[in-house]
Amino acid sequence: MFFVASLPLHAQPQAWGWDDGTVPYVNTPMEIVERMLRMAEVKSGDYLIDLGSGDGRIVIEAAKRGARGLGVDYDPRLVKVATGNARRAGVADRVRFETRDIFDTDLSRASVITMYLLPDFNAKLLPRLLGLKPGTRIVSHDGGIGDWPPDERLEVRAPEKTVGVGGLSRVELWIVPADAHGAWSSELGAHGGAWRFNIAQKFQVLEVGAVAQGRDLLVRASRLRGKEIKLVVTGVVNDHAWHHLFTGTLRGERIDGQVTVSDGNVTKIHPWRATRAR
Ligand SMILES: C[S@@+](CC[C@H](N)C(=O)[O-])C[C@H]1O[C@@H](n2cnc3c(N)ncnc32)[C@H](O)[C@@H]1O
Repeated sequence: MFFVASLPLHAQPQAWGWDDGTVPYVNTPMEIVERMLRMAEVKSGDYLIDLGSGDGRIVIEAAKRGARGLGVDYDPRLVKVATGNARRAGVADRVRFETRDIFDTDLSRASVITMYLLPDFNAKLLPRLLGLKPGTRIVSHDGGIGDWPPDERLEVRAPEKTVGVGGLSRVELWIVPADAHGAWSSELGAHGGAWRFNIAQKFQVLEVGAVAQGRDLLVRASRLRGKEIKLVVTGVVNDHAWHHLFTGTLRGERIDGQVTVSDGNVTKIHPWRATRAR
């Protein structure tokens, strides 16, 4: 059971958002909170920060799953309500609520960020969110983050919802990508010789060129999820048609992982290590 401060806190919003671009208090329906936490795979060991925490429900539900968390809201009445709700839920030792402006909040400790703000507001947060640790999950209810495409997106019926579009909620997930851009070289040993990957990057979207023994190969698919990179390459190497699946973890100037090589009959797995040429 959640207690909310009696509205109007400023005045009741007639529509979603105020004309001056500030974000009023409207809570996320509990079933959407559940979806958000599931999408971010919140678990024990996570540190979740809710930007504009209202009655504290997102942070409190995360704490019930074993996470720790911080909620910030610039309305001290809501911070008081959230603190009381956390005590009643028995999670006061794992969460904190602070009266603070989102723009004055240190986000560096977060493994998960949640928000139910307005798109214009989110767009201003984009550079800070994109600069968080690779792998940090960001989940937003009803609001994109500028031109950063989400990694996952879900539309859910939310009959309890009183604002927004027709009782529908949009839940989106972004995973802060590692820096993968540049020219990477690797040596696949006896089997494949010298390989070079040229990677252009915008957010988590990669454009990859692969060259093995001086020949351009076809990169059929690429994916970057936090620090995890996956490349699917096909082409002729050593006069033989091969399919290569590279999977690895980006750590600064290195990628460590493995490559699964198959020619349709035989499949072999080799270690894969690449280094970035500066
Ligand atoms: C739409 S409510 C969401 C509440 C809660 N996160 C939820 O989903 O139920 C947005 C909250 O952000 C707070 N807020 C808006 N702008 C803020 C800012 N610049 N700094 C801190 N809090 C802010 C509002 O007071 C409000 O409680």
